[in-house]
Amino acid sequence: MKVTIVGSGYVGLVTGACLADAGNEVWCVDKNEAKIKSLANGVTPIYEPGLEEVIKRGLKEKRLYFTNNLAEGLDGSQVCFLTVDTPSNEDGSPDLTNVFNVAETLGDAINSHILVVTKSTVPVGTTVKIKEMIQVQLKKRKCDPNLVAVASNPEFLKEGTAVQDCRYPDRIVVGVEKSQDSELLKELYEPFMRKRECFLIMDIASSELSKYAANAMLATRISFMNEMAGLCEKVGADIRHIRHAVGWDPRIGSQFLYPGLGYGGSCFPKDISALIELGKKEDCPVKLIEAVDAINQNQREKFLKKIVHYFGGTQNLKGKGIAMWGLAFKPETDDIRQAPSLFLIEKLLEWGAEIRAFDPVAMDNVRPLFGKKVTFCPGNYQCLEGADCLVITTEWNEFRSPNFLRMKQLLNKPVLFDGRNLYEPQKMKELGFDYFSIGR
Ligand SMILES: NC(=O)c1ccc[n+]([C@@H]2O[C@H](COP(=O)([O-])OP(=O)(O)OC[C@H]3O[C@@H](n4cnc5c(N)ncnc54)[C@H](O)[C@@H]3O)[C@@H](O)[C@H]2O)c1
Repeated sequence: MKVTIVGSGYVGLVTGACLADAGNEVWCVDKNEAKIKSLANGVTPIYEPGLEEVIKRGLKEKRLYFTNNLAEGLDGSQVCFLTVDTPSNEDGSPDLTNVFNVAETLGDAINSHILVVTKSTVPVGTTVKIKEMIQVQLKKRKCDPNLVAVASNPEFLKEGTAVQDCRYPDRIVVGVEKSQDSELLKELYEPFMRKRECFLIMDIASSELSKYAANAMLATRISFMNEMAGLCEKVGADIRHIRHAVGWDPRIGSQFLYPGLGYGGSCFPKDISALIELGKKEDCPVKLIEAVDAINQNQREKFLKKIVHYFGGTQNLKGKGIAMWGLAFKPETDDIRQAPSLFLIEKLLEWGAEIRAFDPVAMDNVRPLFGKKVTFCPGNYQCLEGADCLVITTEWNEFRSPNFLRMKQLLNKPVLFDGRNLYEPQKMKELGFDYFSIGR
């Protein structure tokens, strides 16, 4: 099948590359010229494990193409996925400019029957609006408005394991108006369901809302655990024990129950804001989700306060060397959107601290934000040289079993603020560290 993907970012590239790997002819379109040029040369502009290899194979086998020209990418396609970014407006509602820009261009470019599928996370009603916009353009061009059909197919992949998630999905949700549209999508996704049938067909509104609901549920689990962690600190309990006691109940399950610095990334914060705005707009406030959001905001502040308290006030942070391990919002990605590390760096710089940072893959994305104000180090141990404390913000695997004695030698004082609960408090105490973690 010929497939077009508009928006070659984390979602578009993974989807396009995996569909090409399954034998389809896939055209990935993006407005960013530098990105398309680099992709056409086999250089992947993002870090996602296993992705570059699949892209290179697609290019070599001539199943995967990259272009800035939507009309070229669209010519003869049966399905067109929209995978452009849908960031937040200042009020928290989703900014749909990119989605609607593509809809307008599509209306000018469609020449044969096509199913336009929204994979970007969009509020209820967007997919139908896209169809209306395309049809207006088609009518202007005196083309049959029925050349376009639409469907919703929200994406549930996770950065860091996106290729794997795409090949072995938990579920594929499609919202359609007509059964022939879901049949076409089922045919396309069939190679990814050989192990397990997981195709869910519903109406478009339910499909669009399901993505927000899923992210809100996951965010709720994180905020719940962060709230429990706060209580643990007050009453002398250990959140690790609470996590086991709660999560080993099969009705609850143990995934996504880790306390930390709160959720970040390109999806949870914006999707939570979008849901809150939707509740307000529909006069149906989502109070639980509002609390989830507030707890999340507070979690970073609380962690920062631990650092400030240790040094005896913000005034004492001036000139203090702070080493930071991890910048990405989570491990195995270079994505720094809404990463807790950025919040901490901004505040600590404001108070005059000197930041020395290391991340295995995300430093190039952070450099343009802070320039020379932050010292980017070539390795995690170099980062500690002459620092007054270490702050851990991302749970990269390589940080899990470090050489603590070497760390002690490099740091001015063995002080560690662990935002990801990587180490055992008792062991750290025995090693002579002043160790602060979450909920223990
Ligand atoms: N990143 C994730 O983990 C993830 C997971 C599930 C769902 N989503 C959703 O998928 C969507 C895409 O997310 P992403 O992280 O891949 O975004 P991204 O920012 O990585 O990529 C979006 C791409 O779209 C391109 N683009 C924007 N407007 C365009 C236009 N008019 N024409 C052509 N290209 C255009 C941008 O240049 C960019 O390359 C969002 O709605 C997001 O919420 C993301």
